[in-house]
Amino acid sequence: MHDDIERILLGEHEIRSGIERVAAEVNAHYAGDELTVVAVLKGSVIFVADLIRRLPLPLRLAFVWAESYRGGSSAGRLELGGRLSEEDVRGRSVLLVDDILDSGRTLAAIRAELDARGAKDVRTCVFLDKPARRAVALEADHVAFEIEDHFVVGYGLDFAGRYRNLPYVGTLKPRVLASAEPLVGEARP
Ligand code: IMP
Ligand code: MG
Repeated sequence: MHDDIERILLGEHEIRSGIERVAAEVNAHYAGDELTVVAVLKGSVIFVADLIRRLPLPLRLAFVWAESYRGGSSAGRLELGGRLSEEDVRGRSVLLVDDILDSGRTLAAIRAELDARGAKDVRTCVFLDKPARRAVALEADHVAFEIEDHFVVGYGLDFAGRYRNLPYVGTLKPRVLASAEPLVGEARP
């Protein structure tokens, strides 16, 4: 697995300090409040696990999933799922957590759904932000790291379903990008 990586962009120590910084920001914002953390499967699992252990706040944890079906050159439709109970969302402060903010379509759609279900307040927190790729007007409230427009894997992020378990973030060698079998619902550059 490590042999497939071309370049490490964020190492384990750097990741830890970024998470500590973003957790301090989130804590400062929600001081004295109670919240629901809604994490987007599957990419955010590593980040959300590290993040919430640094949030000494009364919180609940819920998961949603989002899959986009890209047909041809169109951006595709986004399908949302998961188990978001009424008591997790209605009238509550919600922190929406994802691995990466890319075009922004995923977070914009989930955010709209949380608003429609009566959340009192919705803020967004992402591990990575690729501002160069934005297609909709959405900026995250809390960002651990901003990166350039590279396709990256590791720390939850996948390529064709693999590499989520790498403890660092890196780019893949061109031979790997050219070789993998397409897998429905998993990331492709
Ligand atoms: P958005 O809706 O375009 O913002 O897409 C965000 C989703 O695309 C993320 O949750 C990831 O699953 C996936 N994604 C975007 N960029 C990358 C990347 O560089 N590596 C792996 N997955 C990515
Ligand atoms: Mg994702």
